[in-house]
Amino acid sequence: MLLVRNLSQIATPAGRTGLRGRAMRELRVVERGVIVIDGERFVWTGVESQMPESIRPAISDDFDARGATALPGFVDSHTHIPFAGFRESEFNRRLQGETYEQVAASGGGIASTVRSTRAASEEELASNVLARARMMARYGTTTVEAKSGYGLDKECELKQLRAIRRAAADSPVRLVPTCLAAHEFPPESRGSEMAREGWVSTVIGEILPAVAEEKLAVFCDAFVERGVFTRDQGERVLRAGAALGMTPRLHADELSDTNGASLAASVGAASADHLMQVSDAGIKALAASDTVANLLPGTSLFLMSERFAPARRFIEAGAIVSLSTDCNPGSSMTESMQIVMQLATLRMRMTVEESITAATLNGAHSLRMAHEIGSIEPGKRADLVLIDAPSYLHLVYHFGVNLVTAVFRDGKVVPLTVNR
Ligand code: NIG
Ligand code: FE
Repeated sequence: MLLVRNLSQIATPAGRTGLRGRAMRELRVVERGVIVIDGERFVWTGVESQMPESIRPAISDDFDARGATALPGFVDSHTHIPFAGFRESEFNRRLQGETYEQVAASGGGIASTVRSTRAASEEELASNVLARARMMARYGTTTVEAKSGYGLDKECELKQLRAIRRAAADSPVRLVPTCLAAHEFPPESRGSEMAREGWVSTVIGEILPAVAEEKLAVFCDAFVERGVFTRDQGERVLRAGAALGMTPRLHADELSDTNGASLAASVGAASADHLMQVSDAGIKALAASDTVANLLPGTSLFLMSERFAPARRFIEAGAIVSLSTDCNPGSSMTESMQIVMQLATLRMRMTVEESITAATLNGAHSLRMAHEIGSIEPGKRADLVLIDAPSYLHLVYHFGVNLVTAVFRDGKVVPLTVNR
């Protein structure tokens, strides 16, 4: 067994399911405690003088945390990391006044990433996933959901998902794959309503069954948005995915309110994501459901919008709220859950405690893994981040720098390497 000692503080939410309302603020905090890990799992945490006698003789190793604070490894439950090519010039154009929609209309946007992702090999995509996974680990993330959706043809969607699988063997973070073939209409299918319906049929009739056949995705997702997929098309895609064993998630109410939140709740989605434009009815629907409201404030920042998702209203209504990076080359080019928590507090008025619960246990719940990960508790997988701070409050208070000093996944120290 491994003893993690010399900690200033241990701070963690508790439980094996997502938390709502006031419970999101209830972190268990131990001052100067220790953590005991047996193999891949936590076995005990608390003040060393209270450690059961039976444990001490089994300790064979120790890790000096040098005064760090311990938190559960962050769970980033919404990313688009299997992409090729960047869009930094488009970013620079947006800084000079063009909008995201204008850039997309001139051939940039998602279409530009689709071109470079189609041109990349599975090996290149896997190496990109790995590079991003390594960056995420350096910032304290231990579990990452990763979506396809820049292939937009059968082979390339499968290529993206196979790249995730290929990267998983070397990845410091746990990767959870999602098929987002319904991210956009491919350039070939934009011409007419019939062509668009054709793409929806391809997703339902060909891509999702092939993904299920190779067991390439745990979740399926769709982008329901004005000018993209209608609510009805989104619903058909998600129901088809669910029938093949892939739990739905949904890009909902991001740029316009299309009643996406209530659609997500009604199909039993694991999460409804973005939600910048959600209606009161949408908030109510999520609060009354087990569908997590997954908020992505990095996207509001990066799109230079003053509109952030109404986190306080979600929490007060009793929804399960999580936080994620949305890491993608167009609308949120970051791997850092720390900046996301800083935005959640400073721009969405979440408390530090709520944002920690949202970035750990509630993210785990949205991946349907809260019984295994998301908190530092005996029996759970030993995923841990140590930060150079006397208390968990520093995670937000000491902003804009990387506080991570060590990361453990499944009980093993993760090498925090740079690049590939
Ligand atoms: O989650 N909402 C749609 N998809 C991405 C953006 C993708 C892109 O611009 O490449 C998002 O924000
Ligand atoms: Fe997204």
